[in-house]
Amino acid sequence: MTHRILFVCLGNICRSPAAEGVFRARAPHHSSDSAGTMGWHAGNPPYGPMQSAARSRGLDLSDLRARQFTAADFNRFDLIIGMDDTNIADIESLRPPGNETPVRLLTDFAPETGANHVPDPYYTRDFDGALDLIEAAIDGLSSHLDR
Ligand code: 4NP
Repeated sequence: MTHRILFVCLGNICRSPAAEGVFRARAPHHSSDSAGTMGWHAGNPPYGPMQSAARSRGLDLSDLRARQFTAADFNRFDLIIGMDDTNIADIESLRPPGNETPVRLLTDFAPETGANHVPDPYYTRDFDGALDLIEAAIDGLSSHLDR
């Protein structure tokens, strides 16, 4: 079965486009997109340092463009995945009445890491650390979807 997965972070230029890039490379039989809870960077490609870190791992994020998460996304995807608790709260604040689309933390799919969120590399500058966590969680997510 093909799943429709939406990855969400704050700006949609670091963590969620990286998650989308890893997911589409590893699980091309599913469909995916990413969005930001804030619209500051709408229309922009992923942040240069994140693109460089991803490119070092063979991932090309250059075609991705930021957009803002909207309430309509609850009806367009089967699973919405945020990077931290603030993302989850901001996503939930737009849930349409009666909608039951699951919203999960990406790190829920990488329990072996002990992480409870993906730290924002825009602030920490640890792009490789964020990618390590994202890759581990996408492996877990892919197995979960295909089991
Ligand atoms: P992201 O990181 O949520 O992982 O895309 C951020 C990117 C930009 C900003 C904040 C977080 N910003 O404040 O512009």
